[in-house]
Amino acid sequence: MNSETCARAEAWLRYAADLRLGPYHRVRASSQSAAVESQSALEQAQRPENEGSLGGRSFSSDRKRSEPSGVSTLEDGRAVPTSPAIRISSGSSLFDERVEDDSLPRILEDIGPHCTRCKLHKARTNIVFGVGNPKAQLVFVGEGPGHDEDLQAEPFVGRAGKLLTQMIEAMGLRRADVYICNVVKCRPPENRLPEKDEIATCSPYLFRQLGVINPKVICALGSCAAQTMLQTTQGISRFRGEWFDYHGSKLIATYHPAYLLRNPPAKSEVWKDLQKIMSYLGLELPKKK
Ligand code: URA
Repeated sequence: MNSETCARAEAWLRYAADLRLGPYHRVRASSQSAAVESQSALEQAQRPENEGSLGGRSFSSDRKRSEPSGVSTLEDGRAVPTSPAIRISSGSSLFDERVEDDSLPRILEDIGPHCTRCKLHKARTNIVFGVGNPKAQLVFVGEGPGHDEDLQAEPFVGRAGKLLTQMIEAMGLRRADVYICNVVKCRPPENRLPEKDEIATCSPYLFRQLGVINPKVICALGSCAAQTMLQTTQGISRFRGEWFDYHGSKLIATYHPAYLLRNPPAKSEVWKDLQKIMSYLGLELPKKK
């Protein structure tokens, strides 16, 4: 096991112990887990003789078997391309536990008001849990709170947040219609990226938030969110704007608003991604001039 996998496994075991979950050896046949694998591994697994196993993990699902490679079927029967390099599998996984009767207040309670599970607690002012409609059809996931978010205990309220709000409004929605949260709930010092151990410690709470809200669409803002949810190390530009299956939701990754502040020409790419989301959610698209 490499050190990253070890850190993740340790964080999950600590987290499971926190939740007083039972031992991991029981059968979880109905659970779903995310598995992101390289194209070659995927292709190998898709050969009939390898179906059902990928590096020792359960891989293929009945649903996937009936779909053409690279295509997912939306609820309304339309086919959308799904990245050939990244797949969500169903089947048992060490990293997959469901909390019975879970709810957003319960997750917040489990995090606790004085969380010290990772080193980010040392410099934070507030834990930034998430905001918006708990039954949202659309969830935006960023990487972690910045300075303003840390002070206000609300995600995306600084400069990047104002741009995100404009993006949401351009979709014909209000902030209160969607749910907004981050991979890590405490501000990384100097606005650095969250580190692997911090992500491993905090991301189970994000996964539970997504499980409770169960939105139609999850929009990952930037690499950190996309890589965490899709469990990949690929750069976001490789899969930005593509649809993925994520535990019954559709997931799409786009550039982070902070990146757009530094690189405004990329806004047109992001707008294309947002329009894909609008079209999937049945929101009215702007008329072409
Ligand atoms: N950037 C993020 O990723 N999240 C926030 O909440 C604010 C800025």
